[in-house]
Amino acid sequence: NEGALWGARFASGPSPELAALSRSTHFDWDLALYDIAGSRAHAVALHDAGYLSDDELAEMRAGLDRLAARISDGSLQPAEADEDVHGALEQALIAEVGPAVGGKLRAGRSRNDQIATLVRMFLIDHSRTIARDILGLIDALVAQAEAHPDAILPGRTHLQHAQPVLLAHHLQAHAWPLVRDLERLRDWTVRARVSPYGGGALAGSSLGLDPVLVARELGLGDPAENSIDGTSARDVVAEFAFIAAMIGIDLSRFAEEIILWNTREFGFVTLHDGYSTGSSIMPQKKNPDIAELARGKSGRLIGNLTGLLATLKALPLAYNRDLQEDKEPVFDSVRTLETVLPAFTGMVATLTFDTARMAELAPQGFSLATDVAEWLVTQGVPFREAHEISGSLVRACEERGIGLEEATDDVLQAVSAQLRPEVRSVLTVEGSVASRAGTGGTAPTRVAEQRAALVHRAQET
Ligand code: ARG
Repeated sequence: NEGALWGARFASGPSPELAALSRSTHFDWDLALYDIAGSRAHAVALHDAGYLSDDELAEMRAGLDRLAARISDGSLQPAEADEDVHGALEQALIAEVGPAVGGKLRAGRSRNDQIATLVRMFLIDHSRTIARDILGLIDALVAQAEAHPDAILPGRTHLQHAQPVLLAHHLQAHAWPLVRDLERLRDWTVRARVSPYGGGALAGSSLGLDPVLVARELGLGDPAENSIDGTSARDVVAEFAFIAAMIGIDLSRFAEEIILWNTREFGFVTLHDGYSTGSSIMPQKKNPDIAELARGKSGRLIGNLTGLLATLKALPLAYNRDLQEDKEPVFDSVRTLETVLPAFTGMVATLTFDTARMAELAPQGFSLATDVAEWLVTQGVPFREAHEISGSLVRACEERGIGLEEATDDVLQAVSAQLRPEVRSVLTVEGSVASRAGTGGTAPTRVAEQRAALVHRAQET
């Protein structure tokens, strides 16, 4: 098994079945450039400790640079016989610079500390792309909110008409979880920036190599305090998978509403043609597939997290080959978000709102009943009684098939003497929305302030 990273103690080479099971190049090749970066840093540490001469270091670096170029342009690919990215690249390096120099690189490192480091570097880089994409979505939400500062939406609880709110308030309510997702990614990075390189297989190296030097070369923070933990912990990967799943869930909740809003029955939004799909049989169809795929893929993101957690459960220390199973799910989560987020953002940015339709529906379903009760409170009626009176008015109007604002003086008086005609002053959706003026409320001034705070928090991350 020439070119493999191990073999001398075996009488025979690996069986084809083992090789087929063991091979990981079809997914860990995504880490090839990070593996090269690790090798460059490790070469510096070897040189620093006296194991590579200046010339050997220069030769090795030049060889690694050539490999990096060939990885980038696709001309270097793993061979069928390569077990993993690490072995493939060691072999490629030896082919570039010869065994005398190339054969020195592996001293003092193991695939265990390598892979633990490379996964972190990969995820940190992609977390930046994902964060940028999330910011783009927040921008699209903020732009829609800004474009509709006064539009009213029938606010719902239990999916039933509850109280009118500003459309902008509702859109911003979808932006806040995304801001927290950005903050989660930022907080996660603090833990992810730790470098396991130098931990070797599990115990560290006897060669006097400096893990701090390697960590700095790689642009990471400090080395892992414990080589066993550094090589075998994957909580950082699981935490990333959780954040990815949470982002997916946050998208799915908005997606579900867009799907509903886009139905004939709601009729609140129209999707841009470029962000909707047709039917192969029904010529009239215009479907919200982006929202549906976002909703569907949240299941996949949750699956990636739970699958990884199941892999990690009860694994003894230190490295076990089970840990190889961390990469496919989390790589899939990265790819999924990097595909879903831009499409989702385009859909949101190009949504057209039927604000007249939303305003027409906003007072329906007696959504101003709370305003009646709160008006009574301002008139000195205890809320318990006010709630009863307003509830009775709802019943009286429902029996007559009219809205609250249509109740005549006689109807009001028949329900309660406290319901003087002045109560009508609160029976408009605009008045209702404007009156909810405490911090976090849906009054237009508050919503505008909130938007500024939202933009500020998002940009801080
Ligand atoms: N491919 C492994 C992984 O992804 C790294 C190699 C470690 N292999 C080993 N036999 N120790 O975790």
